[in-house]
Amino acid sequence: MKGVILAGGTGTRLNPFTKVINKHLLPVGHYPMVYWSILKLASSGVKDILIIVNKNDLKDFKTVLGDGNYLGANIVYQIQSHAGGISHGLSYAKNFVKGKKFVLLLGDNIFEDSLTPYIGSFVKGNEEAKLLLKMVDDPERFGIATIDKNTSQITSIVEKSHNPPSNLCVTGIYMYNSDVFQHIENLKASNRGELEITDINNIYISKKKLSYEILKGWWIDAGTHDSLFRANQLVQSELNKLRIDNNE
Ligand code: DAU
Repeated sequence: MKGVILAGGTGTRLNPFTKVINKHLLPVGHYPMVYWSILKLASSGVKDILIIVNKNDLKDFKTVLGDGNYLGANIVYQIQSHAGGISHGLSYAKNFVKGKKFVLLLGDNIFEDSLTPYIGSFVKGNEEAKLLLKMVDDPERFGIATIDKNTSQITSIVEKSHNPPSNLCVTGIYMYNSDVFQHIENLKASNRGELEITDINNIYISKKKLSYEILKGWWIDAGTHDSLFRANQLVQSELNKLRIDNNE
């Protein structure tokens, strides 16, 4: 299994820092934000990783991450021409994944769970896409899933609704088969001018080929000042726990 990390976009919600540094290189704990995605993939056996970046930031990513060997990964990079949306960024991964199932992480998502069991069930299963969900207090910020009470299947996902149908957020941890690239080619831009990942996920729902699981541990999208601060607190408390365990 290969991994793709999206680390492009504009990061305007973290201005003024993102005027001079890419969001995914801002500190979370004692690492840059994107390290956490790389470490989650590598520790689940996903060593071959493509990072999608903006042209102007490529040099900084290479300086900080290099080829990723010291993180237990083999990192390569692709430039996204402009911030055309998550699906637009993902389209650059087509040649990298070479027709196989793969995992996609949004580089501003930080979470506690190991990816190992989720990847394992996706590799073995018949589904063509898998999402990981988490209950949130601020559903207006996210893609939100509706689940049918009888079938327990996701029936629809809405993106940043003023009137969200539930609190079940679609996190930025996705697994797809390579059909996703065909679906992206047929996608139309949304009202905000982006190729939306939610539109792709709704295609898999209509094909009845989408599965999901709910994350057990904490999860955060660190893309705002408040959530970046919270992400630092969460990561720091994890690191403190590890230190205590190691000293016992
Ligand atoms: O964090 C989970 C949420 O992420 C989901 O619930 C939403 O359905 C999904 O649309 C996304 O919403 P955000 O508003 O958080 O997306 P954002 O624009 O912040 O971009 C998410 C990541 O993708 C971020 O790490 C930057 C990267 N990105 C984004 C765009 C628009 C790219 O690499 N290229 C892009 O063109």
